Amino acid sequence: MSPDEMKRQAALKAIELVEPGMRLGLGTGSTARHFVDLLGAKVKAGLDVICVPTSNVTRVQAESLGIRLTTLDETPELDLTVDGADELTDDLALIKGGGGALLREKIVAMASDRMVVIADLSKRVPRLGAFPLPVEIVRFGWRSTEDWVHSCLEEAGCSGAVTLRRLAGGEAFITDNGNYILDCALGRIDDPDILHDLLKSAPGVVETGLFLGIADTAFVADANGVVTLRAPDDET
Ligand code: A5P
Repeated sequence: MSPDEMKRQAALKAIELVEPGMRLGLGTGSTARHFVDLLGAKVKAGLDVICVPTSNVTRVQAESLGIRLTTLDETPELDLTVDGADELTDDLALIKGGGGALLREKIVAMASDRMVVIADLSKRVPRLGAFPLPVEIVRFGWRSTEDWVHSCLEEAGCSGAVTLRRLAGGEAFITDNGNYILDCALGRIDDPDILHDLLKSAPGVVETGLFLGIADTAFVADANGVVTLRAPDDET
């Protein structure tokens, strides 16, 4: 089974959770894209749901499929968010933001009763950190913030290159919120909670790609099927 088919299998599990009338958060990335496609087919067949997209890319996809959209300003509480991840551990700590949508993804996930992660096997890791941690920062004074980030990493016992994310043409990547992203290639993160708290103490840091205690369930697809992982406190 190809990685893309695994992503679709995980999305198929998540679509089973969708019920008429639900308020949904729609994730971003190649895995979440499958979920939105499947949802679009259900909407076409008559399902009534209302959704908040986590990025402009997802908004455009959802609009093209005729999915009814709203904003968190109009609908501040959601029932379910389904999103991908760059890394996840068995207790559902995540790294997200490889696609640059981490801030809206975290806001939408935390506005939801339930966050479900969909992923292929390659995302499941024993410990976070092999995937470079994205950190969204404001553009003003970004060099100073970069220095802060270095200090925070050191204090958290992490080390590695910190790189301003750039597009193929060399210009800085700008998020949907008008910010920059620093990618921190740490190799391993021994204490994600401490690292997250330290990074958030830097004034120019908007958000980190560490999603800790947010996801409730994950559907992880491999060649044999889909495995369900649950957060330690998940009661569903
Ligand atoms: C977007 O910013 C990310 O958080 C994505 O959810 C994450 O990168 C997973 O993307 P893929 O499903 O494309 O791997």
